[in-house]
Amino acid sequence: MNAVIEALYTEKRAQTPHGDWVPLDESVMPKTHGEMLYHLTRAHGPEAHTLEIGMAFALSTLYFCQAHKENGRGLHVAIDPYQEASWYGAGRESVKRAGLEEYLSLIEERSFISLPQLLAEDRKFHVAFIDGNHRFEHTFLDFFYIDRMLHAGGHLVLHDVNFPSVRKVMSLCLALHGEFYSIDRTFMDPPANLFTLLRLSMHRLRQAPLDLSTAYRMRRESREECMVLKKIAHRPDSDYDLRWKEYRPF
Ligand SMILES: C[S@@+](CC[C@H](N)C(=O)[O-])C[C@H]1O[C@@H](n2cnc3c(N)ncnc32)[C@H](O)[C@@H]1O
Repeated sequence: MNAVIEALYTEKRAQTPHGDWVPLDESVMPKTHGEMLYHLTRAHGPEAHTLEIGMAFALSTLYFCQAHKENGRGLHVAIDPYQEASWYGAGRESVKRAGLEEYLSLIEERSFISLPQLLAEDRKFHVAFIDGNHRFEHTFLDFFYIDRMLHAGGHLVLHDVNFPSVRKVMSLCLALHGEFYSIDRTFMDPPANLFTLLRLSMHRLRQAPLDLSTAYRMRRESREECMVLKKIAHRPDSDYDLRWKEYRPF
């Protein structure tokens, strides 16, 4: 793996373009999640185009770009409006120091502005990672646009399904788009034990006691944070309009 990624995890600090060091905070994803993004991108091969919402200190970004480098080519689009304001440019700087700049296209804009623009440009992606603003309506909008840009056979990774808002979007995806998405356990952390599953189920119910449909859909999921969904079939744009009355509770 790349020495810059290793150093970020061991030193727990990142360098800004001005040479200052800033400590990494709790926004940083666990190494196993980064490795999962890396393996997913490697699996999609040299044609892969990847997309992420929420770059922060660029841990996820580095894993995507490193995979593109090892694939021989590819492109990663990262959307994050706050690279300078919140992260002192340290994410972008780490990508540069890792020698991965050529694989990154950073859009410094909010996702609900930039995703429709990418859609209008007819962009398509093989792997998409949602880890931006975790409010329900933002995560839902991220999914809405990504769904239309994700290739059949592509993967959608939802980070932080321990947030009820993000879990609800996953439930929506499986309920309203169940013919087109299924959980892909190939790339996820191994499931935890029955005790963890019971603890998580209680926790999920305490967080959102009335959201029984989501709790039901997650009843077998003992992974706490990260879910991988596979887009199993192509959905033509016309299909959304033809089935304009369709609704299922989620
Ligand atoms: C949890 S952090 C991402 C962590 C990162 N993926 C990693 O690997 O360390 C969430 C990020 O979402 C960004 N963000 C917040 N609102 C956003 C929006 N409306 N559109 C895109 N990104 C947003 C924040 O600036 C922050 O960098």
